[in-house]
Amino acid sequence: MIKNTPPMGWNTWNTFAKDINEALILQSAEALVSTGLRAAGYEYVVIDDCWALRERDRNGRLVPDPEKFPHGMKYVADAVHAMGLKLGMYSCCGAMTCAEYPGSLNREYTDARTFARWGVDFLKYDYCFKPAGLEGKSLYRRMGLALANSGRDILFSGCSWGSDDTHLWIGTTGANMWRSTPDIFDSFESVKDLIKRQYDILPYGGIGCFNDMDMLVVGMHGKGNVGLTGCTDDEYRLHFAAWCLLASPLMIGCDVRAMDGETKRTLTNRELIAISQDARGNRPYMMKFWDNADLPVIVRALANGDVALGFFNMTEGNANFWVSADDLGVPCFSGKRLEGKEVYTGEEARFVNGVVQSEVRPHSCAVYRLHVVNAR
Ligand code: GLA
Repeated sequence: MIKNTPPMGWNTWNTFAKDINEALILQSAEALVSTGLRAAGYEYVVIDDCWALRERDRNGRLVPDPEKFPHGMKYVADAVHAMGLKLGMYSCCGAMTCAEYPGSLNREYTDARTFARWGVDFLKYDYCFKPAGLEGKSLYRRMGLALANSGRDILFSGCSWGSDDTHLWIGTTGANMWRSTPDIFDSFESVKDLIKRQYDILPYGGIGCFNDMDMLVVGMHGKGNVGLTGCTDDEYRLHFAAWCLLASPLMIGCDVRAMDGETKRTLTNRELIAISQDARGNRPYMMKFWDNADLPVIVRALANGDVALGFFNMTEGNANFWVSADDLGVPCFSGKRLEGKEVYTGEEARFVNGVVQSEVRPHSCAVYRLHVVNAR
């Protein structure tokens, strides 16, 4: 399936890992609807690893664990669809998944058909237990073709963590998004590391195959499977804004049944989601302020001519960011200027002599949506 905007949804892994079951999936789907997350654009409910029995059935098919999914997966898919949502599932190109359930190696077509029969709309495809002698790109192409021939439109979400120069071959596999990073953890160090990995690979994302920086940890507050120290609300806001500006898929990882108000506000920020889902799909660019990789400035040209500008302070001290309007494509002698607001606070951008400045606290960000107006 080709999606023209970064896919959005919720995934079980970050909080629940192996502790998943039908009730959790259906309650979480209901929560996506009742909290307004579905209306904000989150549509995929993704069951990650640990849903299957450890062995295939006599016909070589994957079997959902009957203790976790007593009515099978078609039932879950139907219920999720009835809520206006889509169902995602998980497998792996190796002999086993990362948590050691059966993988799809040499069973690609059988499994693609199984997922299609159940009514699955999205497949996350991992990279564990891959035989060293087989190339990841061939194995991903196999699954890409199997899904294309499965009889159902299934979004293919590659998850090879950027290994083996994924960016060079993923676009030939039929994948619609590709994991460019190792796993995220709920700490600011992890968020910062994943953002810094983007400087060199940004050209390899975009419409057709979005660069997936991994699921969001917003609102986990240290709880659950990848919960470590947790992050502050400022840090979660920075994390969410970076994923939006960099056009990463937005897959929520917290327990959506128990979100606090601040988490919901961050995840449903309309301005940021509009930047993430911008129809033009332009690739962003990223600069190091004062040549410091911990001070990224991210810019994205939007469909209506607006410019999204983000200042990200990942250092321990205050940062006085500035960018010249020339760097945003609107030189001050053009007879035009830029104006606009910060997306979280609503504060006006301050342009003086064609330079926009902003003082940003440690572990915090300022993101502006700027539009071009006639200079007075
Ligand atoms: C890998 C992936 C994670 C998750 C786990 C499941 O680590 O990168 O996102 O799917 O496997 O075991």
